[in-house]
Amino acid sequence: MKRFTAFFLTLILLFSLAACSNRAGQEDTSLNTESAKEESIANNETDTSNNILVVYFSATGTTKSLAEYAADILNADKYEIVPDDPYTEEDLAYYTNGRADREQNDSSARPAISGGVENMQKYNTILLGYPIWHGQAPRIISTFLESYDFSGKTILPFCTSHSSDIGTSATNLHSLAENANWLDGKRFAGGTTREEIERWLSDLEIKPSQAANEQKQTGVFDFDTKTVLLNSGYEMPINGLGTYSLHGDECISAVKSALKSGVRLIDTASAYGNEEEIGQAIREAIDEGIVKREEIFVITKIYPGSDMQNPEESIQACLDRLNIGYIDMMLLHHPDPNDVKAYKAMEQFVKDGKIRSIGLSNWYVKELENFLPQVNIALALVQNEIHPYYQENDVIPFIQEKGIVVEGWYPLGGRGHTSELLGDEVISDIAEAHGVSSAQVILRWNLQKGVVVIPGSSNPDHIKENTELYHFTLSEDEMNRINALDRNEKHDWY
Ligand SMILES: Cc1cc2nc3c(=O)[nH]c(=O)nc-3n(C[C@H](O)[C@H](O)[C@H](O)COP(=O)(O)O)c2cc1C
Repeated sequence: MKRFTAFFLTLILLFSLAACSNRAGQEDTSLNTESAKEESIANNETDTSNNILVVYFSATGTTKSLAEYAADILNADKYEIVPDDPYTEEDLAYYTNGRADREQNDSSARPAISGGVENMQKYNTILLGYPIWHGQAPRIISTFLESYDFSGKTILPFCTSHSSDIGTSATNLHSLAENANWLDGKRFAGGTTREEIERWLSDLEIKPSQAANEQKQTGVFDFDTKTVLLNSGYEMPINGLGTYSLHGDECISAVKSALKSGVRLIDTASAYGNEEEIGQAIREAIDEGIVKREEIFVITKIYPGSDMQNPEESIQACLDRLNIGYIDMMLLHHPDPNDVKAYKAMEQFVKDGKIRSIGLSNWYVKELENFLPQVNIALALVQNEIHPYYQENDVIPFIQEKGIVVEGWYPLGGRGHTSELLGDEVISDIAEAHGVSSAQVILRWNLQKGVVVIPGSSNPDHIKENTELYHFTLSEDEMNRINALDRNEKHDWY
C-alpha cells in the first residue's frame, strides 16, 4: 500500500514537473529509486538503436575493466552505478565494521545511486557486473534492481572477487527483479582477459547488439560506412587488400600502408605463406596507434590436403602465425575430400570465440548445392575469381540470394592480364568520363554488384587509389557496358 501511494505521488510529481517543463532532473543528477523506475515506465519513446546494456558497480576498478570488455565486444551501451556517497578506502576495509561491512550485514540497506539509466525501456538484455562483498552482491545492486522495471528483460550477472565463487550472490537478486529472465551468472578473477570474456559471451550465444545494425539488412552494402553486415552479425569492410604475392618486409610495409590509407580489410591465407608478416604489420600498426584491433577485419584460409586432414591443428596454426587474438573470417581455400570435416572444425572455433565468421573460397553452384546441407553454421562469405572478363553472373546471385556475401579475388584480372583489362576501351572510356582510373572503375563496378573487392598491391599510391571508390557512381548504362565484357575467361585454374 505504502509502495502504491509512493508510486502515485511520484506519478503526480512527474506530471507536474512535465507541465512546468522544468527538467529539474538535469540539474540534480541524484535519482531517487522510485522516480527512476517511474520515469522509465512513463517514457514511451522506444529508441531501438541499442538493445544491450552493460551495467556495473566497481569500487576499485576490477569489475569495470571486464564490463568495458563486454560492452565493447557486444557493441553495447554502458552504465556505471555510481554511489551518491562514494566509498572511501576506510569504508571498504573489510571486517572492520566499516560502511561496506555494515551495509552487507543489513539486508534492508539501499545505498543511493547518483544519476540513472536514461531510457531503460530500449534495452532487452542487461549484463550486471559487481564485486563480491562478503559472499554477496553489494547492496547498491539491490538499489539498482529496485529502481527499474525489468519485465521481459534478460539479466546476465557477472562478478569479480578475490576467491569466492558467484554462489548465491546472483540468485539472491532474483526476487528484486522477479519478472526478468535471469541467466546463470559467472565469476571472474581480476586480470581476466578480453578473450575470456569474449568466449563466455559466445558460449552463451549473446551476439553483439543488433542496435545500429537493426535498420541494416544483411548483405546490403553500406557505402557510407563502407561495410556490409554479415549473417554472422559482424560487419565487414567492402574494400580491402589482397596479399597473395606479398612477403617479408614488402608485405609488412604494404599492410601498414594500407591501414594508414584507411583500408580495414586484409585478406591472406595459410597458402600465401605470409600470415606471420601480416600479424606483425597489424600488431605494429596497433602499437603505433594507426588502428585498433576491433577496427580491422582479417580473413585467412586453410588449404586442401594435410591442412584439411588435420583441421584443428591447421586452424590453430593460423591463429598462432597471425597472433592477433581472434580471426575475423576463416575460409576453406578450395573444395577437398575433407572439406565438411574442416568446416565443422571451423564451426567449433567459432563456438570457442577464436574465429568470428566462416565461409568458403572457390566454390561454385554445384559444389555449394552439395556442401550447404552438410554444415550447421551458415557461410558468411564465398570468395571467388570475379572480374569483367569472368563475371560469374550465374554464381553471384545464387550465393547472394542465400544471404551470403560474395567477395572477388583477381578483381583487376590477375597476373598477366591486368594491363589488358585496365586498357580495355570500354573501361578506359568510362574512367575518363569520371576522371578516375580504370582500376577504380572496375572496383566500383564490383561494389555496385555487391561484390567485396580485395585488390593486391605493394605500391602505396595504388593501395590508396584502390580505396577511393566512393566519390563517384557508375550509371546503369555504364554498368551494362561493363557487364557486356564478360568472356567467361578464367585467369587461374580453380
Ligand atoms: C567489503 C568487501 C568485501 C569483500 N568480500 C569478499 C568475499 O567475500 N570474497 C572474495 O573473494 N572477495 C571479497 N572481496 C574482494 C572483492 O570482491 C574483489 O577485490 C573484487 O574484484 C573488487 O572488484 P571492484 O574493483 O570492481 O570493486 C571483498 C571486498 C570488499 C571491499
